[in-house]
Amino acid sequence: AVERTLSIIKPDAVAKNVIGEIYSRFEKAGLRIVAAKMTQLSREQAEGFYAVHRERPFFNDLVSFMISGPVMIQVLEGENAIAKNRELMGATNPRDAAPGTIRADFAVSIDENAVHGSDGPETAAQEIAYFFKSDEIRPRTR
Ligand code: CMP
Repeated sequence: AVERTLSIIKPDAVAKNVIGEIYSRFEKAGLRIVAAKMTQLSREQAEGFYAVHRERPFFNDLVSFMISGPVMIQVLEGENAIAKNRELMGATNPRDAAPGTIRADFAVSIDENAVHGSDGPETAAQEIAYFFKSDEIRPRTR
């Protein structure tokens, strides 16, 4: 089915100047960018976005990293978009990420791992709504 998923290019990958290379991977996989914005997250925004991880030992480092520089946030749309994006990203820890995945190619550590992608349909809907109003998302009609 055609799905939407939320993708974030994290501060490390923005700093490396590889937004275009990552977008190119999405497009080559048949995913369409139907909404996008560059922004620098506030602490409150980052804490809210990662609220499910609040009790995890890495939470504070994760939030500090996510607000350390600009991020590129997009909604990807396409057949099987959630799983497809996760395949393109590779494992959370770049050491475990398959060769040719975004994290294998651009990430250095589990903390600075280049990209975020929604992990399922419910989180995708929640995460998209966290950053975009419905009229900011432009489904492709041709
Ligand atoms: P992300 O998909 O953005 O979701 C939470 C992030 O926390 C994750 O990617 C990692 O960058 C970061 N993180 C740091 N340590 C861990 C860990 N031990 N397990 C999972 N995520 C971690």
